[in-house]
Amino acid sequence: MGKRVAIVGAGVSGLASIRSCLEEGLEPTCFERSNDVGGLWKFSDQAEEGRASIYQSVFTNSSKEMMCFPDFPYPDDYPNYMHHSKLQEYIKTFAQKNNLFRYIQFETLVSSIKKCPSFTLTGQWEVVSEKDGKQETTIFDAVMICSGHHVYPNLPTDSFPGLDKFQGHYLHSREYKGPDAFRGKNVLVIGLGNSGTDIAVELSRLASRVIISTRSGSWVMSRVWDNGYPWDMVYVTRFATFLRTTLPSFVSDWLYVQKMNTWFKHENYGLMPLNGTLRKEPVFNDELPSRILCGAVSIKPGVKTFTETSAIFEDDTVFEAIDYVIFATGYGYAYPFLDDIIIKSRNNEVTLFKGIFPPLLEKPTMAVIGLVQSLGAAIPTADLQARWAAKVFTNSCTLPTKNKMMNDIDEKMGKKLKWFGQSQTLQTDYVSYMDELGSFIGAKPNIPWLFLTDPQLALEVYFGPCSPYQFRLMGPGKWEGARNAIMTQWDRTVKATRTRAVSAAQRPQPFYNLLKVLSIPVLLLTAFLAFY
Ligand SMILES: Cc1cc2nc3c(=O)[nH]c(=O)nc-3n(C[C@H](O)[C@H](O)[C@H](O)COP(=O)(O)OP(=O)(O)OC[C@H]3O[C@@H](n4cnc5c(N)ncnc54)[C@H](O)[C@@H]3O)c2cc1C
Ligand SMILES: *[C@@H]1O[C@H](CO)[C@@H](O)[C@H](O)[C@H]1NC(C)=O
Ligand SMILES: *[C@@H]1O[C@H](CO)[C@@H](O)[C@H](O)[C@H]1NC(C)=O
Repeated sequence: MGKRVAIVGAGVSGLASIRSCLEEGLEPTCFERSNDVGGLWKFSDQAEEGRASIYQSVFTNSSKEMMCFPDFPYPDDYPNYMHHSKLQEYIKTFAQKNNLFRYIQFETLVSSIKKCPSFTLTGQWEVVSEKDGKQETTIFDAVMICSGHHVYPNLPTDSFPGLDKFQGHYLHSREYKGPDAFRGKNVLVIGLGNSGTDIAVELSRLASRVIISTRSGSWVMSRVWDNGYPWDMVYVTRFATFLRTTLPSFVSDWLYVQKMNTWFKHENYGLMPLNGTLRKEPVFNDELPSRILCGAVSIKPGVKTFTETSAIFEDDTVFEAIDYVIFATGYGYAYPFLDDIIIKSRNNEVTLFKGIFPPLLEKPTMAVIGLVQSLGAAIPTADLQARWAAKVFTNSCTLPTKNKMMNDIDEKMGKKLKWFGQSQTLQTDYVSYMDELGSFIGAKPNIPWLFLTDPQLALEVYFGPCSPYQFRLMGPGKWEGARNAIMTQWDRTVKATRTRAVSAAQRPQPFYNLLKVLSIPVLLLTAFLAFY
């Protein structure tokens, strides 16, 4: 009999985990507090306790070829960036096709996970679940935590003096579902993240006045990238990652800032990040610059203080007669069913090996799936994490010693600060992280070998988008359709928009791009030598 694994949550991370357990011959039981799969993408009209909540107009910010389960491409007529309802449809189809529903206990809350008394020997966990008011305790050999991290709102009311006296309404973006209540109102949005900008742009069409307040600013990117291709299909490539990590940092920083400013100059729109070279998550919004240009949204610095009716900003300007303040200040994560010390073993900092394994456990029988954030999509990341975790549970992969894991965590922390700055989340570079995970389970594509045996595919893998199929191309867990999916990814990309076909479809030319990119450092070098 296979080992029994408890999985908390049936969002995309939970589904990936169930499937990985099945692939490794483990026996998964998934507990989901709501009545369906999908997690965050299962929309509801009202924010629900303990579950992520999205607004009606959410569209994905990763494109379909980059955010699929690696053996399950989206139908070719799906749009590249999907409405949440479309993505939810896909997630449910994935669960059905793979027969995952039978492993899920719906409307069942996991209220406690504790080590068994015999943990040092067995690594077993005592999981308490609740359904219809009835509690049940079950022993599991391993646990995968997939409970999501857009659940507990970060509402920093204490850091805003005067907010207690403010007489208008205030709410967290989690409560925001649509614009109707805000018609003709003055709205202040705090925070320049994806939610804040989405909400501000949406409100700007019917509110009286909309201001976004931001302390640190942000780069704003368009989903529509060079020549109209989806941003991540062009940006998230192995080649670009190679350049980013091998060019001297002053060159790569300079290139980055140039690239971010090609659409519009962020200084002139009040958006300029305080530290522009940090690779902090950019904001994806195609309309914000145009709304600012039309005067429908304006950007202000941080709020110094609130009065009964207004907000005074750090530059001493005032926004009068505010009706609503929306705090788009993001989320903190919490695992209320688990002893904090397991995940935050030091100074209240998350200490997880590769963002997945608590390093100090006597037995490696717990994994956190879907916590790591990168400038890439969640689904493929969760899939690789879950595949590795399942292999660790069956002992076909082993983890390094506690010391080595802690050292690795410290080293990663240093690197993270350098590239991403101080932040709550575990951020990392997508392609490097995926390759690292892939190498642990033998699924990292072997590029030199590909160039020798299948040059056409190798070119697409190296210069083309680093799409999820690449991690099911070889090794254990290989999917026979992966090569074909990679060779046809651009067809599916343009199929959705070429609804009126007049001539042959266009796709990017990797070599042409290579030349273009290479020409910049070469020019720089020439200029440098000339002056020298
Ligand atoms: C507005 C918004 C837009 C986003 N857009 C994108 C995007 O375009 N592309 C992308 O890749 N990512 C995007 N993300 C990131 C998103 O987090 C991931 O796409 C993904 O949905 C995370 O899935 P998950 O399974 O880890 O967590 P969730 O989807 O949050 O699922 C967690 C599940 O666990 C259940 N649960 C929690 N606690 C318990 C418990 N104690 N007992 C039982 N069940 C429990 C919950 O009910 C829920 O169903 C976006 C996030 C937000 C907020
Ligand atoms: C997409 O938006 C969500 C919600 O703000 C964010 O968590 C995620 O990191 C974004 N994805 C990218 C690739 O920036
Ligand atoms: C930006 O961040 C980097 C890395 O943390 C740091 O070295 C640099 O000094 C910062 N620049 C500014 C202007 O703060």
